[in-house]
Amino acid sequence: MTIFKGRPVSLLGSGIYVPEKVLTNYDLEKMVDTSDEWIRTRTGIVERRVAAEDQVTSDLAYLAAVEALKSASMSPEEIDMVIVATNTPDTIFPSVAAKVQGRLEAINAGASDIQSGCTSSVYALSFAAAGIASSIWDKVLVIGAEVLTKLLNWEDRATCVLFGDGAGAMVLGVSPDGKNKVISTSLKSDGTKSDLIILPGGLVECPASVEMIQKRLHTIHMKGSEVFKFVNKVLPLFLEQFCEESNLSLNDITWWIFHQANYRIIESVLRRLDVPVERAILNIDKYGNTSAASVFLAFHEALVDGKVKKGDKVIFVSFGSGMTYGATLMEI
Ligand code: COA
Repeated sequence: MTIFKGRPVSLLGSGIYVPEKVLTNYDLEKMVDTSDEWIRTRTGIVERRVAAEDQVTSDLAYLAAVEALKSASMSPEEIDMVIVATNTPDTIFPSVAAKVQGRLEAINAGASDIQSGCTSSVYALSFAAAGIASSIWDKVLVIGAEVLTKLLNWEDRATCVLFGDGAGAMVLGVSPDGKNKVISTSLKSDGTKSDLIILPGGLVECPASVEMIQKRLHTIHMKGSEVFKFVNKVLPLFLEQFCEESNLSLNDITWWIFHQANYRIIESVLRRLDVPVERAILNIDKYGNTSAASVFLAFHEALVDGKVKKGDKVIFVSFGSGMTYGATLMEI
């Protein structure tokens, strides 16, 4: 059940927003015991963006959404649903999506957040495409937005060097000619590994308390090398099966847009698949791991640069807390 049935769903527009402030590896050298060389060689990250003090996730999401609507030549009233993929919502409720919908004055739209770790991007794209294919919605605004830097422990070198802030958005709708459509999707989870990437404090399981804050449980904790091993083990086989179920060979895919978590992960998964790394869109050097925003940022930049062209088959691949993983294949 991988291939989409029903109405053909196309990408109608895309846009991004990244905060102005750049934090380089050299800046981090002054903050924790790390080095540009360590970060660059272990992850591929050179710099990342950091949201301004008064900027929250819904601000980034809104600005990316405005760009996507502009590129789709669409007014907000035409949107039926706003879906925001995020792990760093402004608040648990209201949702980021509701705030964006209100600010856009997308008066005919519903609004909901998706929170499935970094794979939220691919989950959100899939839910949007499924809703359009099955005639529930005609036009959906999908946004991936994160302000991760406000939830990091800036004394923990194992995590604070990895993440950055940003947002990307896409408008999906019914394909006018039945071509250039979302082809297939597959969403997975292995909840037995739910301890690998966590933000444990501040909610039901571990409510806000002075002790909770002293232990920094309100920040991101990660078993980095276990995540690395899990992804390397699971993704190659998953992607092979996904392409087979989509009736495509690995070589039929023009561009691989992976979640930009670590250059070494992307390189080693592609090596196992025998796909040249040149087929991957990479911008981790500029933004670090922007979680649910990363595939949207990578895609939009590649489109604007003229790398991704109409008719290209593009696969979006992500993995993250849960541990969730998934892929969506689209002809642009
Ligand atoms: N600078 C310098 N040294 C660092 C460091 C930093 N920022 N962070 C960790 N180290 C040290 C460790 O303390 C350790 O030192 P030790 O050998 O003296 O104990 C050493 O580097 C190796 O640590 P390890 O965690 O084994 O490194 P690694 O090669 O696995 O790389 C990650 C660490 C986090 C880059 C890598 O595991 C990774 O990318 N994992 C996946 C994470 C991910 O993708 N998460 C998001 C999923 S959505």
